[in-house]
Amino acid sequence: MVATDGFLVGRVKALRRPAAALLASRSLPARLSAPGGSAQSLDPPYKEPVVAGITFRPYHPADATALLALFLDTIRRVNSRDYPPDQIRAWAADDIDPAAWAARFEGRFVVVAEEADRPVGFAELEADGHIDRLYVSADHQGHGIATRLLADLVAEARRLGLARLFVEASITARPFFAARGFVTLVEQTVACRGAQLVNYRMERTLT
Ligand SMILES: CC(C)(COP(=O)(O)OP(=O)(O)OC[C@H]1O[C@@H](n2cnc3c(N)ncnc32)[C@H](O)[C@@H]1OP(=O)(O)O)[C@@H](O)C(=O)NCCC(=O)NCCS
Repeated sequence: MVATDGFLVGRVKALRRPAAALLASRSLPARLSAPGGSAQSLDPPYKEPVVAGITFRPYHPADATALLALFLDTIRRVNSRDYPPDQIRAWAADDIDPAAWAARFEGRFVVVAEEADRPVGFAELEADGHIDRLYVSADHQGHGIATRLLADLVAEARRLGLARLFVEASITARPFFAARGFVTLVEQTVACRGAQLVNYRMERTLT
């Protein structure tokens, strides 16, 4: 069992690679830098995002409360398209411990998208190439914000010399990652506070 984004991985389907090899490769050593606020080039053939009025900057611990609110609201309003109510209630539970949730940002490369001093999205990269949380506000979907956040993670991964990125993509996010070069390795069922949720382990090789 593997803890990821608060989930425990249970059943897996359609393995293309042995799970042990996937999990072992999470232990690559690397040192994360603080994300820079400046624009970084997008990989072709990504569409140049239109993010007028949105700025991108490193995470500060003071962001944690607003980001937890964004996380909960996005799950309830966006992921609820793809997951039934009982699973949404478990994923975006009212009793998530804010301190524990915030502590997960420590030591990670985290980029925050902001509009008028209000966070509207964030993404985080672990040192082994794992993309953990990637969320964009329900009111800002489809404007290229996640594309830009991902581009920052890709740039950092390249700076670290990582060979690949990987993610446990939600049903909602799977098409986004697929359109950006990630391939699905396995469909998995994860346990989250008593509910069983489907997600997809996906990876993208960096060249
Ligand atoms: C998945 C998610 C992060 C994508 O965020 P987003 O900011 O809406 O993504 P983008 O706008 O960058 O790209 C999504 C679509 O917007 C459109 N888009 C991208 N750039 C655009 C632009 N400049 N102008 C208009 N539309 C654009 C595209 O149609 C793109 O679709 P594509 O993937 O087929 O290319 C978002 O839907 C989300 O927060 N989902 C819920 C949380 C979640 O499941 N997180 C993942 C956990 S692993």
